[in-house]
Amino acid sequence: MTARIIDGNALSAKIRELLATSAAGMKVSHGVTPCLAVILVGEDPASQVYVRNKVAACEKAGFRSIKQVYPPNVEPVTVLAKIAELNADPSVHGILVQLPLPKHFDAEAVLEAIAPEKDVDGFHAENVGALMQGNPRFIPCTPYGVMKMLEAEKVPLKGAEAVIVGRSNIVGKPMAMLLLAQSCTVTVCHSQSKDLAFHTRRADILVAAVGRAKMITGDMIKPGATVIDVGINRQDSGPNAGKLCGDVDFESAKEVAGLITPVPGGVGPMTITMLLANTLESAERTLK
Ligand code: GUN
Repeated sequence: MTARIIDGNALSAKIRELLATSAAGMKVSHGVTPCLAVILVGEDPASQVYVRNKVAACEKAGFRSIKQVYPPNVEPVTVLAKIAELNADPSVHGILVQLPLPKHFDAEAVLEAIAPEKDVDGFHAENVGALMQGNPRFIPCTPYGVMKMLEAEKVPLKGAEAVIVGRSNIVGKPMAMLLLAQSCTVTVCHSQSKDLAFHTRRADILVAAVGRAKMITGDMIKPGATVIDVGINRQDSGPNAGKLCGDVDFESAKEVAGLITPVPGGVGPMTITMLLANTLESAERTLK
């Protein structure tokens, strides 16, 4: 059997169209345009691409965006002052600091400086706590996108065995909270887990978010499982050197899984789509 592929580009396009319509309506009814401010520190090539894509997505959906780029050696106080300025600007609805930050930054302090009601990444401690309590203000974009994909594909969640590989604050941990809230039985695996395949083979829903190219192979997957690949890795050798691949070995996995997301064209576009959704939601809250 060959797995059905979940098309993240198609689902994203559908949702972004709805978001653009809502943004246009808000402009007409209230004279307000949703606005996202993106801060990038340094010259990490992957971060530059992500930020460029986020700004382009805003433009295409009719959102306003502010892009602020700093050199890698910028003083943290400069960035904190910019965040304070954006916090105080009522025309800005979302603020995002692209991660990772250079080593001389206290990343946690930077994330805590963002006003929680503009924290469209959902990384502020207050918003992490709200998610954990089952009352989220902003759902972190990548796990939010994964939940939308599962919903669109009508993947049964209640009582399902969900296994997440990776325990990051950005994906693994919030993913666990969201699946738990939908009554999955959740297991979170990580680099120290003993016998990873034992866990992954039990998964009805397997989410790979470790950042290691093709580490989940077909023999680690339960037949018919839903496999969500959050990894974005650049292959550094072999015939596909330079090309993107996920944490899942797509070729072997698609022969076993029931549903699978590709890389690229799977979770990636959904992350930016949900960032727009959170920004719109933030703007809507200011109208109430
Ligand atoms: N770096 C990798 N993923 C993300 C994300 O979702 N948000 C931010 N701010 N930085 C990231």
